[in-house]
Amino acid sequence: MQKRQEQSQRRVTQFGDTPPEEFRKQLHKLADWIADFREHLEGLRVAPNDKPGAVREQLSKSAPEEGEPFEKILSDVDNIIVPGMVHWGHPMFLGYFGWTSTAPGILGEILTAPLNVNAMTWRTSPAATELETVMIDWLRRWVGLSDQFGGVIYDTASVGIMHALAVAREEVAPATRKLGLADRNVSRLRIYTSDQAHSSAEKAAIALGVGEENVIRIPSDDQFRMDVNSLGQKIAEDRNNHLQPMAVVATVGTTSTASVDPVNDIGNVCREHKIWLHIDAAYGGGFAILPEYEWLRKGWELADSIVINPHKTVFVPLDFSVLYMRDLERLRRVFSLVPEYLRGDTVEAEKNYMDYGIQLGRRFRALKAWVIWRSLGRAGIVARLREQIRLANLLADWIKKDDRFELSAQPSMGVICFRFVGAAAPSPRTATAVRERADSTDGLNEINSDIVERINASGRAYLTQTKLRGRTVMRIGFGNVLTTERHLRMGWEIVQETAGAL
Ligand SMILES: Cc1ncc(COP(=O)(O)O)c(C=O)c1O
Repeated sequence: MQKRQEQSQRRVTQFGDTPPEEFRKQLHKLADWIADFREHLEGLRVAPNDKPGAVREQLSKSAPEEGEPFEKILSDVDNIIVPGMVHWGHPMFLGYFGWTSTAPGILGEILTAPLNVNAMTWRTSPAATELETVMIDWLRRWVGLSDQFGGVIYDTASVGIMHALAVAREEVAPATRKLGLADRNVSRLRIYTSDQAHSSAEKAAIALGVGEENVIRIPSDDQFRMDVNSLGQKIAEDRNNHLQPMAVVATVGTTSTASVDPVNDIGNVCREHKIWLHIDAAYGGGFAILPEYEWLRKGWELADSIVINPHKTVFVPLDFSVLYMRDLERLRRVFSLVPEYLRGDTVEAEKNYMDYGIQLGRRFRALKAWVIWRSLGRAGIVARLREQIRLANLLADWIKKDDRFELSAQPSMGVICFRFVGAAAPSPRTATAVRERADSTDGLNEINSDIVERINASGRAYLTQTKLRGRTVMRIGFGNVLTTERHLRMGWEIVQETAGAL
């Protein structure tokens, strides 16, 4: 056995690639590994409970001088990597936005690996380019967006919003692409978004030279939706102070509660003031596939740009985010720059996606979307999204029936925020102790945070905590296709038990 491994090692270290028959064996082994991993995932801890550095300690400090056999590498994956992971695909992973590991998604990722193309121009990757255009169009039709919107696939919504706001910046400060912002007598630019919106707006402002402090957080109402009157007032105030409104970012599915801003009203304010409207539908956008969620799209036709993350809610494995823009040519005008050495590879282009962003080299992301979307079909996607919503509502009902807990926000799509507020602990002594802690907001915050920490450290389930108006709340996000009602029931029992044991 050892001799065989040594032989294989010697062969890998020669010139060229692994011999085909060896590679075939490794692939079969890997196929079994993946199938076993998926089948036995539920038996693993959801998350490790180790201190930072625990994984690093087990890894070799320096890279190997000689090549190592695949078997050895795979065994280290088993012994070091897998136990050091938070398993986002585990059915008891209930944190963040439920993830999108599925068997067809894994197949799509595997298929992408041997092709390993660079989807920068049509010439260098005709099929990757054309499939990308078709996938963008499939999703556009599914969510009911008009064909005035063209799109581009990026890795994440954070990158999408940065590109969208770069175009918004060019519209209010023309020629910024060429001349930059410095020494041009350009007013301070302002971006408006709600106090519930994702921090990617600030990150974009940092990258674009607009400045973090020029992202103005507009207060939200009691349902965590942007207050449109405050938005109008803030824009008017800024204009009076000779500041230049550049864009408004409305959110369809905020990070903490999945609340939905009144996009139509916000869009009307943007039209009135001629301001770019970007919709961050990173999470909520996928739910627009459901006919009963048509209301979600109200006002989308007023948008200049919209980001949807199929890696959050349309079952494509990380990373896969689509930026749609009305008149996509505007994006190309800001980013197209063809270096001499690529000119020959762009001439007969249908579309060169390198022209639509700062990246030159681009992964062939469309392939995995094609595999998963064909495997599930629209009906399969709709059924799975509906099941997430059913589970979320079921959990909300259980929370309402236990008076030690309360819902902290309206259930929205697959997200439930809730909070431990009671002190029905098993012994009178602990009950008093908990009650005393629970008497103050800080005390209750600590208790809720404690519950989440203890559950996550137990390895039995994984939830997220977030803050809503200064209150720490627990948050469960659905999305994992492996999470069933049985898992949810177990998760809820773990929450109840952990809270009861405090
Ligand atoms: C509403 C919202 N927008 C944007 C993002 C950023 O997404 P990404 O990780 O794709 O950059 C998130 C992340 O969770 C989010 O919740």
